[in-house]
Amino acid sequence: MIVAQKKITVVGAGNVGATTAFLAALQQLGDIVLIDIVDGLAEGKALDMSQASSLCGYDCKITGTTDWAETAGSEIVIITSGLPRKPGMSRDDLLAKNTEIVKSVTSQIVKYSPDSFIIVVCNPLDAMTNAAAMFSGFNRNKVMGMAGALDTARLAYFVSEKLNIPAADVDCVLLGGHGDDMVPLARFTTVGGKGLTELLDEKTIEEIVKRTRMGGIEVVNLMGTSAFYAPAGGAVKMAKAILGDEKATLPCCAYCDKEYNVGGYFVGVPAVLGANGVEKIVELDLDEKEKNDFAVSVQHVKELVDKVRKMI
Ligand code: NAI
Ligand code: 2OP
Repeated sequence: MIVAQKKITVVGAGNVGATTAFLAALQQLGDIVLIDIVDGLAEGKALDMSQASSLCGYDCKITGTTDWAETAGSEIVIITSGLPRKPGMSRDDLLAKNTEIVKSVTSQIVKYSPDSFIIVVCNPLDAMTNAAAMFSGFNRNKVMGMAGALDTARLAYFVSEKLNIPAADVDCVLLGGHGDDMVPLARFTTVGGKGLTELLDEKTIEEIVKRTRMGGIEVVNLMGTSAFYAPAGGAVKMAKAILGDEKATLPCCAYCDKEYNVGGYFVGVPAVLGANGVEKIVELDLDEKEKNDFAVSVQHVKELVDKVRKMI
């Protein structure tokens, strides 16, 4: 029997959006509305996922639509609508078009789900999260971006390959924007309480950090478009932490003012996610190099946000 439950809207029924909807269904997060501007796309994918329910073991309502009215009263809205990267493109190349999309999508979220939490996924992630907060006017704890969950999952996987252990046993920490200057923190990354620096030599750690930073483009170069399984996993993990009031510490793009002296921008930091969205920013005791690397990454985010501000 399908029962009424929490409502999650996924905007964009492309690679990341459809995978997010499917993973949310598999984890029984709630009823799911998948919305896209392309006629039939979200409807077709929602129907396919609904038909898979008896095979895959979920019991929730999955609606595909082009009509925002169907999203009304969502607890969480995950924005995946936007152009993805193609080979040769940086995430920043997507700025102008995806700002327009975030603007139009956010106005519909404000209209139909004014009490929702927004999880932004489209790129450039940090600029689009700042834009969604500006356009929505929502309280800052209610708007956040997914990137750190993906980037730390990549880091965890690369470490797990080297140590021949499950990736879930690697506890990773990463700061900064979702760009090539993101700051994976080897010093705070642990396996069973042991620091990475105790477990791997410096050269191997450097290689892993570099591969994590370039994790997105590695996938783009292989398949001609950007990743979607791990990004969708990250978005669903964040949604689950909020819906389940888990108080889970996850790296995400969250509003920081005095925290890390960021000065009023959404950037990647470890944050506690629970029923109130971003409930706390976790401040780590960084050394000088980590502080400088983070400052470089934050400066890049600020420049992109300033470009967005000039566009609106
Ligand atoms: P995709 O092209 O497969 O899907 C995007 C979908 O958005 C399309 O179906 C399109 O019709 C739809 N769309 C466009 N404008 C819309 C609107 N106004 N309302 C509703 N739907 C709309 O792209 P993909 O691979 O799913 O990537 C989506 C975005 O996520 C890209 O910007 C990509 O760069 C970003 N991304 C971010 C990651 C992160 O870590 N934050 C990781 C992977 C992708
Ligand atoms: C990724 O990191 C392209 O942001 C996307 O896979």
